[in-house]
Amino acid sequence: MGPGPADLLTLRAVAAFRSADVIFEVVGRNSSFSVSGAVVDSIEGLSSRRERLVFSMSLSPGERRAAVRRNAEIVARELRGGNSCVFATIGDPLTYSTFPYLAAEVAELIEGLEVEVVPGVTSFNAAAAATGATLVEHDETLAVVPAFLPENLREGLLAATDTVVFLKAGKTVGAILAALDATGSEWDVAHVSRLGLEGERIAKGPDEALENAGEYLSLLIARRKRENR
Ligand SMILES: C[S@@+](CC[C@H](N)C(=O)[O-])C[C@H]1O[C@@H](n2cnc3c(N)ncnc32)[C@H](O)[C@@H]1O
Repeated sequence: MGPGPADLLTLRAVAAFRSADVIFEVVGRNSSFSVSGAVVDSIEGLSSRRERLVFSMSLSPGERRAAVRRNAEIVARELRGGNSCVFATIGDPLTYSTFPYLAAEVAELIEGLEVEVVPGVTSFNAAAAATGATLVEHDETLAVVPAFLPENLREGLLAATDTVVFLKAGKTVGAILAALDATGSEWDVAHVSRLGLEGERIAKGPDEALENAGEYLSLLIARRKRENR
């Protein structure tokens, strides 16, 4: 369903939501606000029932898997009851999303499960558009990585890539800027948080990016300056 703004939903996504008997939205364990729910709220003409799923952000893979399993059982119960189900997820469902884990678990519970994936505008495509800066062109290379990637891998990537998108770049902005500095190249940096949502901030350059740090729904785009390529 895109990164948040209602007008970045695709027509196909809207049609899927409208045709669903049940829409599943994601909500944080300690929060009553659901980004996916807020976007679904903006769709007119919905008669679907809305249900919320809580996933785990625990560092323990076992706890995360157990939460996916619990949610898969909730979805499977609806499917067994003959209801069509839509899972609402931020950005694109096959890009760093909970969706593939959930779909795989549901497929284990429901024989012959039919799944349709509706592609979405990713957070970083929308962020690049918001900053107006090109992501990549001609022979340049693009990497999309989670910001917690171990240092050595990150260094290798930075040596080999012209533009790097760091997702989940809340707490790690300082470390990312230090790693960029250590490459010896100069980089254009943009940090975008809560794009299209209340509290949206778009920071350009390292100083503003550092001031912006902290928010989970944020990403950093670093593009090697042309003269360094
Ligand atoms: C679990 S990943 C989801 C990625 C998503 N499937 C996509 O296609 O962009 C969550 C990360 O996506 C990024 N993100 C998603 N929505 C965003 C938004 N509205 N503003 C800024 N970053 C966002 C942030 O880096 C966040 O930590």
